[in-house]
Amino acid sequence: MSTSPENPVSPAPPAAPVSQVSPSPIVRSAAARAPQVHLGLDVGTMNLVCARANTLGKIEISSLRNVFLTVDDVNIEGMDLSKISHARIDEGVFILSHDAYNFANIFGHRLSRSMQKGMISPEDINSTDILAVMIRELLAIEPGVMPGKCVYSVPGDPIHSKSNVLYHRNILGRIIDEIGFEAEPLNEATAIIYAECADSDFSGISISFGAGLTNVAVVYKSIPVLEFALGRGGDWIDDNVAMAVGTIPNRVVAIKEKDFHLDRFDVGRKKERKVREALGFYYKNLIQFVVKSCLQELDRRDLDLGFPNRIPLIISGGTSLAGGFLDYIRVQVEESSWPLELSEVRYAGDPLSCVAQGCLIKALKQ
Ligand SMILES: Nc1ncnc2c1ncn2[C@@H]1O[C@H](COP(=O)(O)OP(=O)(O)OP(=O)(O)O)[C@@H](O)[C@H]1O
Ligand SMILES: [Mg+2]
Repeated sequence: MSTSPENPVSPAPPAAPVSQVSPSPIVRSAAARAPQVHLGLDVGTMNLVCARANTLGKIEISSLRNVFLTVDDVNIEGMDLSKISHARIDEGVFILSHDAYNFANIFGHRLSRSMQKGMISPEDINSTDILAVMIRELLAIEPGVMPGKCVYSVPGDPIHSKSNVLYHRNILGRIIDEIGFEAEPLNEATAIIYAECADSDFSGISISFGAGLTNVAVVYKSIPVLEFALGRGGDWIDDNVAMAVGTIPNRVVAIKEKDFHLDRFDVGRKKERKVREALGFYYKNLIQFVVKSCLQELDRRDLDLGFPNRIPLIISGGTSLAGGFLDYIRVQVEESSWPLELSEVRYAGDPLSCVAQGCLIKALKQ
């Protein structure tokens, strides 16, 4: 399940099927002298990513797709579930993560999500329990070590929206505490600066283009100056493309994640070409919307952003991985009257794991 930080995190199946909702917490007192393990956890709308330092001091990354299917949806009642990642909660059986993703694609079903727009989904009563099962799986530690600190990502409060992050942040804290770790929240975009901006004294701007949200932070010498979220991300693109060309969002995701480029539509059969063309329209619209919203927020907040030095703009998140993305956002930023002097516009080292890595850095610093 692990990949090195140099490699992009590909959603990997969990090591073993999951079947319990609330096993007993790890007991801290039993081995007071045992070494502690500290973890970074990125809790994303589509991907849950964990970063930990191995015995050689190298960062190891593991991840799960944050999706599920109810067994009723795929009609596999009576099937042997022993090799399939699943959870039994109350009366229901849920297929989890990568297995759910594969089943949904094979049977043409819509995937269910435990989170929406960066936060726990209010749509399914079981969302919190399902999320807890997946987090427990991801945070598993070897026998003989004790859980220490787990710094976990939370989004900023979304602007243009009445929702806020308080409920989500507290539920996650409770889930992680129950596993036995000491939970501490960290803004997702600020975590990117911790992971990426040691060279600029932990000063920079980061934009995390995720599935449910786009998160933005401005950080000066590791102190967050501005943090906010925008309610559009990869899901917004997928839903709009699916509606425009008449297909289901997970079919769009499969094409988008394969080899999509913002300006190249002439690939595949007719339906696929139409999906690619629509993806190009919505991608460019998202980038324009984010750059415009950043300008408005930087303008609107009454902050003295007179940074002494030029700072980097770090682009991250799975949605930013589309071909042509970085070139397009660079042009949009250059053509706007961006209020901060930038030293560069560049990708994070690994756009799918740098939030978890930033969380780990914070956990290890304390
Ligand atoms: N190679 C790729 N090309 C284009 N899009 C991709 C690629 N890989 C992943 N994505 C998209 O990136 C999004 C997931 O990115 P990420 O893991 O950063 O989001 P998240 O952290 O789960 O969500 P959020 O931060 O909004 O809660 C999904 O919309 C996914 O389809
Ligand atoms: Mg994210």
